[in-house]
Amino acid sequence: MTLPNDNMTREMLAAQAHIWNHTFSYVKSMSLKCAIQLGIPDIIHSHGRAMTLPDLVDALPINNNAKTLDYIFRLMRILIHGGFFNQIKVNDTEEGYLLTPASCLLLKDEPLSQVAFVQMELDPNFIDPWHSLSKWIRSDNDDSSTPFAIAHGKSLFEYDERQPNINRQFNEIMASDSRLLISVVIKNCRGVFEGLKSFVDVGGGIGIVAKVIADAFLDMNCIVFDLPHVIEGCEGSKNIIYVGGDMFKFIPYADAILLKWILHDWSDEKCIKILKKCKDAIPSKEKGGKVIIIDMVLMDHNLENVDDKSYETQLFFDMLMMVHVSGKERNQQDWAKLISGAGFSDYNIIPILGLRSIIDVFP
Ligand SMILES: C[S@@+](CC[C@H](N)C(=O)[O-])C[C@H]1O[C@@H](n2cnc3c(N)ncnc32)[C@H](O)[C@@H]1O
Repeated sequence: MTLPNDNMTREMLAAQAHIWNHTFSYVKSMSLKCAIQLGIPDIIHSHGRAMTLPDLVDALPINNNAKTLDYIFRLMRILIHGGFFNQIKVNDTEEGYLLTPASCLLLKDEPLSQVAFVQMELDPNFIDPWHSLSKWIRSDNDDSSTPFAIAHGKSLFEYDERQPNINRQFNEIMASDSRLLISVVIKNCRGVFEGLKSFVDVGGGIGIVAKVIADAFLDMNCIVFDLPHVIEGCEGSKNIIYVGGDMFKFIPYADAILLKWILHDWSDEKCIKILKKCKDAIPSKEKGGKVIIIDMVLMDHNLENVDDKSYETQLFFDMLMMVHVSGKERNQQDWAKLISGAGFSDYNIIPILGLRSIIDVFP
């Protein structure tokens, strides 16, 4: 066998390293899950200043010995690399760990905590469907089949309905995202809701968004509309009511309809059905009617200023929508097709929510 030349050798080794990097990408997520399960962000936070490795190991619910010191040192090293912790000098010989903005969002009692999101997405019930992805692609699947359904025998929303714990957990992760996102909307883009007398949050979960909007706009009447098992036990207030139902059949009437993280769950055909139902439920453009979509608009990766990590995260979500539900993430052209396909006349994309955007859609 002739040995490849130097360039080819370098290329081959780089290719192998690339495969390793891709293959072991789950190490990042599993290390993060482990740190959350051990309560590391909360322990460092409670310490109130940079925390040395021996202090951290001492405070953890584990034996403190040379082996565990080594395990935690290595776990923290990869999470520092991932941007979840910083390390600074605390004296001449020691360094201590500090939280970063990302780990501040992983504190259990932080109102905007993303812990429930990480825990659920990394739960074996949500990871298992990935093992059925190629089987699903090979099969002659219909629109409602998903790798999730192959793994669990039912769709994600049916699965939620029959498992009260999962339903509660799912609603909580949606709520944790809503708290974070809607606080940004109210702060930076209040105008989107100004002037509306009523709005329906379709697929509004347990009503976190509606509560924030109802508090910010005291004269607005808000309806939270979701599947009956989701809103069961939710109590309304002076300007919020909960209505149970199926958005494919009926949507309550209001000035505006919010679809936050709804359309990416569904195929184009189903999205057009939902959007048409929304159009039937709002007044004309002249009378102020509109649909407010909050979802991703896939970046155009050919543009020079596209952040590679943000684009990759959007692609992760797109794959997630393929595996867990029958949905997808869409680029601007895809959105334009859906919107005009449902009979709307105009739309405006407001890209102020990080990886997601607000899309104002007018009848
Ligand atoms: C991805 S979650 C988004 C929840 C919420 N809008 C948010 O962003 O936090 C999708 C929501 O759609 C609801 N949903 C699914 N099918 C529905 C249907 N046929 N009618 C009404 N709501 C539905 C689910 O129960 C869930 O609350």
